[in-house]
Amino acid sequence: MEQTAKIVVDGKTFELPIITGSDGEKAIDISRLRQETGIVTLDPGFANTASCRSGITFVDGEKGILRYRGIPVEQLAEHSRFVETAYLLINGDLPTKKELERFSVLLNDHSLVHEDMRTFFEHFPRWAHPMGILSSMVNALRAFYPEIPERTEEEEINITVTRLLSKVRTMAAISYKIFKGHKVIYPIQDLPYAANFLNMMFDSPVRRYEIDPDFVKALNVFWILHADHEQNCSTAAVRLVGSARVNLYAAISAGICALWGPLHGGANQAVVEMLGQIHKNGGDMAPFIARAKDKDDPFRLMGFGHRIYKTYDPRARIMKKACHKVLGKLTQHDPLLDIAKGLEELALKDQYFVDRNLYPNVDFYSGVLLRAIGIPLNMFTVMFAIGRLPGWISQWKESIDDSDWKLHRPRQIYIGANERDYVPVEKRG
Ligand code: SDX
Repeated sequence: MEQTAKIVVDGKTFELPIITGSDGEKAIDISRLRQETGIVTLDPGFANTASCRSGITFVDGEKGILRYRGIPVEQLAEHSRFVETAYLLINGDLPTKKELERFSVLLNDHSLVHEDMRTFFEHFPRWAHPMGILSSMVNALRAFYPEIPERTEEEEINITVTRLLSKVRTMAAISYKIFKGHKVIYPIQDLPYAANFLNMMFDSPVRRYEIDPDFVKALNVFWILHADHEQNCSTAAVRLVGSARVNLYAAISAGICALWGPLHGGANQAVVEMLGQIHKNGGDMAPFIARAKDKDDPFRLMGFGHRIYKTYDPRARIMKKACHKVLGKLTQHDPLLDIAKGLEELALKDQYFVDRNLYPNVDFYSGVLLRAIGIPLNMFTVMFAIGRLPGWISQWKESIDDSDWKLHRPRQIYIGANERDYVPVEKRG
């Protein structure tokens, strides 16, 4: 027997179907609400609104659960590699050995960037933020790799997906090398995905970059933890822009722009800037906690709080462990890690944070890990984007195959002026 929800509008009762997800989540299906009642719902920030049915990622914010295609992220971080997890998200199942080998060969074959794109990279101002460069250059990929009419839609999508996954790390490394005024390093055949990226970033004609397997492992964990997170802001942007049936490069470029924001993916850079300020401030955290609690101060404790997680973000836990592992191995001591741990301890004992269920999120420790690997601060969010790419792609693919899918066009409640006449300029006050 279908469950329903009853609403009464102007004395009239309407019944709306309740749908249940595979893990027991429930939603009132309001897709016929306006048609039947003439009214719409209002939900700023969509905090209470599901935009779609999805079979990709499951998050339970109360219990701190995150699963990709049903597999707990803890297991993937422990046993998988980023390329394998990307395959899982995009195709729905873990690849066989053969499928993984073929996928890796394809990623290798598409890792170069069209040489004519280099002039674009070279003509950005040196101070351009790498996220702005990345979103522009991903959008430009369509110009350099136009659709081939002879290909089927599926072939076109598959090659576009492979190009994006493979070239995004080459483009990120090119922007870094050009920013430094250094020689661009090309991808090397048969170097695995993460190792190839590190080599493109840090190898130099005068100093061979020694690829550290612990850095490679840490980078795979970092990217696996960022690979998808259901309908977050940037994924919602990819789905919304994608709903107009633009090409995938344009939809992904929109996702990169949304991720750039300090309330979203830009938080990892903001966290390290905040930790650095506390360090400069002699390690005194109290003023930052006080500012975060001050209603009149727009300052927020970066890396804390989450729209969905009302408990510890499972990714933050894994990231914190990875920080210890990498820093421990380097016998490096990063004072920012101590500050981060101290800040976490202070905040989790403070009633303001406890009352609002504010815990460290994925961005709180991720920047400390990236610093340990040697990634420059202004590329932290680019690293998030590379990780999130398979998630954006899988969500976009799911949307175009969804029979319920339609152009995203929300409604509004108008609160402006009622009808009034035009007043000629000479009669205005
Ligand atoms: C990511 O959605 C995703 O899945 C995102 C992500 C992903 O994988 O894609 O997980 C990645 O974006 C993580 C979030 C990174 N952003 C930050 O770390 C920025 C700092 N965090 C906040 O700005 C905030 O917590 C948000 C934006 C993340 C979530 O905010 P919400 O859900 O809109 O909650 P809210 O702003 O309504 O806050 C509720 C209360 C408010 O206080 P009251 O008005 O109730 O008194 O909590 C307070 C807020 O002022 N609050 C904070 C706070 N976060 C919320 N106060 C101080 N510091 C904070 N960080």
